[in-house]
Amino acid sequence: EESPPRSPFSKVSKAGNIFIAGTMNITIDKERLLHDLNAVSRIGLGDHGSVTRLVFSIKELRSRQLLIHLMTQAGLKVHIDRIGNIFGRWNGGNPKAPAVLAGSHLDTVVQGGKFDGPVGVIGALEAVRSLKENKLPLSCPLEVVCFVGEESSRFGFSTLGSSLVAGVVHIKDLANAVDAHGTKLEDILSSMGIYRDNLASLKRDPASVKAYLELHIEQGPILEAKNKRIGIVTSIAAPTRFKVVYTGQADHSGTTPMEMRKDALVAAAHLIAYIEEASSEYSQMDKGRVVGTVGAMKIEPGVINAVPGKAELSVDIRSISAGAKERVARLVMDRAQEIAHLREIAVEILPIRDETPVPLDEGLLPLIKEICEEKGVAYEVMPSGAGHDAMQMAKITRAGMIFVPSKRGISHNPMEWTDPEDICLGAQILLETIVRVANEKT
Ligand code: GLV
Ligand code: MN
Ligand code: MN
Repeated sequence: EESPPRSPFSKVSKAGNIFIAGTMNITIDKERLLHDLNAVSRIGLGDHGSVTRLVFSIKELRSRQLLIHLMTQAGLKVHIDRIGNIFGRWNGGNPKAPAVLAGSHLDTVVQGGKFDGPVGVIGALEAVRSLKENKLPLSCPLEVVCFVGEESSRFGFSTLGSSLVAGVVHIKDLANAVDAHGTKLEDILSSMGIYRDNLASLKRDPASVKAYLELHIEQGPILEAKNKRIGIVTSIAAPTRFKVVYTGQADHSGTTPMEMRKDALVAAAHLIAYIEEASSEYSQMDKGRVVGTVGAMKIEPGVINAVPGKAELSVDIRSISAGAKERVARLVMDRAQEIAHLREIAVEILPIRDETPVPLDEGLLPLIKEICEEKGVAYEVMPSGAGHDAMQMAKITRAGMIFVPSKRGISHNPMEWTDPEDICLGAQILLETIVRVANEKT
């Protein structure tokens, strides 16, 4: 005996019809959506089903190439900007009107999953493709967007492509963006013809955009725990990030007495423990928790028989509350200095990026709510702990986000999983949101 369907979606998909805005019934092609998502997943596939497509790696470039191919096949007009952001446009209405944009990213963390990013890009592609095939009359153009370098795994710099499109990248932000091999982000940008003097040239004219919509996996446990199939995002917890570099002295591990050491890694260890402590302590459950993470560290010389002379830590602090986040970041920086002082070693704090939590559009939220209610889909209105391209796009246009559940809340991990039916439902709701926003009177 099969268990009953979890939602009204199977009913909807069998009937093949969804009522949209009193005009037409259009559904996405679920098989095609899942097929294309699978095709993306195979690029950069590694051990245990992990996916690695670091920004500007060959794998990531190939995933972009595949998307360009799919967009062209769908008859979208493809525009690629200088950094490689891809815009696939359908002029399904007045071509001069501001466009509704929908998308996400295709780059991943190291050994990540198959859903973080691609669900939003391929979901948007499927939505726009379905609308185009059905020749649904709209009052403005639609664009499927793939932003370059949403993940910060390589340079510590997140939402690179969308930040450039929003015109919010400043040269000082790039100074400390260096990958593990010493390659500077600024140099890569120069190789693409993007220099400090023309950073602003990638900015999209806000007058050409009506709204930005992003479908994404939740990457947390809330929807599953509450048995909801859709999340509607209120705001995004943007990170404060910096590097802390302790420089002590590399010494022989056999001959150097404990009291004579200048061990940079022990200093780092104290700071890491403090970050956990301060983040937990200053979390205000009502106003948003603070989360603090050291996710990467470089030790020199990094061998078993030498006292570590240098330790470089990456610090990532986030909260929905700007005040709470600022306070913890300040405490951590102060403690970093204090530890260095006590241990008589040197410390340097290198800022990477300090961003303010971003509220999403208050008008789009009730619209997505309404669609869920009409379809009888259980939804949750919630903040996002993860960063997204939507937080940059929100600076130049109205931005809205739709979440679908993550199994056990796992993400940035090969075990990342979202039920295919949930992905399809998310794409369908995205489609209906696009239609309503496109046809909204402004
Ligand atoms: C993006 O995945 C982030 O780091 O929040
Ligand atoms: Mn991610
Ligand atoms: Mn993502």
